[in-house]
Amino acid sequence: MTDAPPPWALLAELTHGCPLHCPYCSNPLELVRRSRELTGAEWAEVMRQAGELGVVHTHLSGGEPLLRADLETITAAAESAGIYTQLVTSGVGLTAARLAALVDAGLRGVQLSVQHADPGASDRIAGRRSFADKERAAALVRETGLPLGLNIVLHRDNLDALDDLVELGVSWGAQRIELANTQFYGWALRNRSALLPTREQLERAREAVERWRERLGGGTDLVWVVPDYFDGVAKPCMGGWGAVSLTVAPDGTALPCPAAAALPGLDPPNVRDHPLDWIWNHSGAFARYRGESWMKEPCRGCAHRAEDFGGCRCQAYALTGDAAATDPACALSPDHGLIRALTGAAPAGAARYVYRKPERG
Ligand code: SF4
Ligand code: FES
Repeated sequence: MTDAPPPWALLAELTHGCPLHCPYCSNPLELVRRSRELTGAEWAEVMRQAGELGVVHTHLSGGEPLLRADLETITAAAESAGIYTQLVTSGVGLTAARLAALVDAGLRGVQLSVQHADPGASDRIAGRRSFADKERAAALVRETGLPLGLNIVLHRDNLDALDDLVELGVSWGAQRIELANTQFYGWALRNRSALLPTREQLERAREAVERWRERLGGGTDLVWVVPDYFDGVAKPCMGGWGAVSLTVAPDGTALPCPAAAALPGLDPPNVRDHPLDWIWNHSGAFARYRGESWMKEPCRGCAHRAEDFGGCRCQAYALTGDAAATDPACALSPDHGLIRALTGAAPAGAARYVYRKPERG
């Protein structure tokens, strides 16, 4: 078997522990217990091997990565492996001293999550008081001069506040604002009926993004992550299965995407048992949906298959029970009616969330 082209990105899920309880979280319902997490030394070895494999960028993520007391050690290991590190955080627990230590270790950027521009609504969606911590964290990052990005997961409860959210990001000094329409995996799938927006909300939000792009003139990068349930077009999930990136879960499970642990029979390898090079190039889990040979009709004969890779395997499984099916988000899928039924139904009143609860793990 010849080696696959190397990955360039690693999503390092350092812990599933998190002080927040966001209902849109894409972490699995069965969260990894803290006692099963890789040690700092094991993460350092993952970073060393990832650098050798060709990875140049890592998101230090979770859960909340600041809960790891050895985050500085892991950051330093990535830095010495030649990997650009970006911290993905809620901001809760970030102090000036912690940030200075992370910068010393080689941290290159911070992506901060925000739930809403209104403090009360933000705290309600996050399931605890946290807006003030986020505001403080943004100020600390700005003082260090590190690039600051905001990650805003959009759904029925905050899409109408898009103008306020962009204004907030600009006032906090964010260079990049990711407006990420909810992708329905893990807890987000569990909360789908409360999170699904209306088509009208999305149209208004799209128009607002266009207005802001013109107004900001490129000074702040606005990234719109498409709501694939509504567009009739499958997303090129992960840039293709086992094509450009990999995820390592808190317990060392290596996955082609963060949600893939839910796929039956995948038997994902673990970095405790195998080198990353073998995992990427020779494991069955990473080969399973790589390339095009696994595709069924209509993807197999479709002109778009090299652009969208048949969409998302995890979504195909979640909606049809068959991970090799065409993603039902695609209008050409024989299962597209499943998506139409979901997006055509009127929302049933105010959102009632099932909050993410770490203790379930
Ligand atoms: Fe993409 Fe498959 Fe739909 Fe063609 S049929 S557009 S390859 S998801
Ligand atoms: Fe797993 Fe799309 S989230 S392939």
